[in-house]
Amino acid sequence: MNTETKRKRKASARPWLLVLALLVVGIAYSAVAPSQSSADTEMTQQIAEGKALFDVSCSSCHGLNGEGQSAGPSLVGVGAASVDFQMGTGRMPATRGEAQIPTRQNVYTQEQIDAIAAYVATFGPGPAIPEQSQYDPEGLTEEEIARGGALFRANCSACHGIIGGGGAMPEGKRAPSLADTEAVHIWEAVRSGPQQMPMFSKEVLQDDDVREIIGYINNANEQPRYGGLGLGDHGPVTEGLWIFILGIGGLAIIAGWIAKKGARAR
Ligand code: HEC
Ligand code: HEC
Repeated sequence: MNTETKRKRKASARPWLLVLALLVVGIAYSAVAPSQSSADTEMTQQIAEGKALFDVSCSSCHGLNGEGQSAGPSLVGVGAASVDFQMGTGRMPATRGEAQIPTRQNVYTQEQIDAIAAYVATFGPGPAIPEQSQYDPEGLTEEEIARGGALFRANCSACHGIIGGGGAMPEGKRAPSLADTEAVHIWEAVRSGPQQMPMFSKEVLQDDDVREIIGYINNANEQPRYGGLGLGDHGPVTEGLWIFILGIGGLAIIAGWIAKKGARAR
C-alpha cells in the first residue's frame, strides 16, 4: 500500500466517523433527557395532586398556602417527613381542636400521603421522608442495640418511660407508648418533633443513632415475659397480694385447726 491510498481511505472514513459520533451523542441524549423530563412532569403532577387533596382536607385549618391560622400551625418548613408521620399515624387530618390530637386509623393511601407531603415540601425545606436504609433496624448487632438503649435512656425515656411504655405530660397530655409504632414513624417523630416532643436534628442524633434507638425499642417490645405466673410484672403490689393470700389463708387454716382441737378438748 502506498501513502496515496492510505490518505484516501482516511478521508473516506471521516464522514462515517461523524455519523458515528452523532449517533453516540444521540443515544446518550435520549438515555438521559427524556427520562429526566418525564420525571419532572411526574413530579409536578404529584404536587398538583397533593395540592388538590390539601385544599380539600387540610387548608381549612392550616391555610390555603400552609401559612397557618388559629385552627392549625404553619406548615412552612415542617417537611415531607412530618406530613408522612402525622397522616401515617392517623393524627391528621384532625377532626377538631383537642388538647392532644388522637391517633386514628389512617384512611389515605401512601400515594395520596406522598402527594400531600410533596406539596407541603414546596412551602419550605424540611426533613424528607426517609429511605428504608435510614430507619430499618434490620442487621444491627447486639452491641449497637445496647447503644440504642443508652441513647434512648438519655434522650427519650424522661417522657416515654424506660422501655417506651409511655408516660404522662403536663396539662393532661401524654407521651404515647412506642410499642406499636412503625420504624419509619419513629424516625419521622424524632426528626419532626410532634407537639411537645423536641425535634432532634442530625447534629444531635445521626441516622445511625436513630436506627439504633429503633432497634432498641423493637427489641424491648419483643422481650419475653419472665416468671411462671407472670404476676402482671407489677412488682411489690402483686407480690404482696400473693403473700397476703397465702399468708392469711395459712393463718385461717391454722386457726380452724386450733378451733377444732379446742372443740374436741371440751
Ligand atoms: C381541624 C383542624 C386540622 C385539620 C383539618 C388538619 N390539621 Fe394538621 N394540625 C392541626 C393542629 C391543631 C396541629 C398541631 C397539633 C399538635 O400540636 O398536637 C396540626 C399539626 C400538623 C402537622 C405537624 C406540624 C409540625 O410542626 O410538625 C402537620 C404536618 C399537619 N398538621 C398536616 C396536616 C395535613 C397534611 C392535613 C390534611 C390532610 C391536616 N394537617 C389537617 C389541625 C388540623
Ligand atoms: C419532652 C418529652 C419528650 C421527649 C424527650 C421525647 N418525646 Fe417522643 N413524644 C412526646 C409526646 C408528647 C408525643 C406525642 C405527640 C403527639 O401526640 O402529637 C411524642 C410522640 C412520639 C412518637 C409517636 C408515637 C406514636 O405511636 O404515635 C414517637 C415514635 C416518639 N415520640 C419517639 C421519641 C423518641 C425516639 C425520643 C428520643 C429520641 C423521644 N420521642 C423523645 C414527648 C417526648
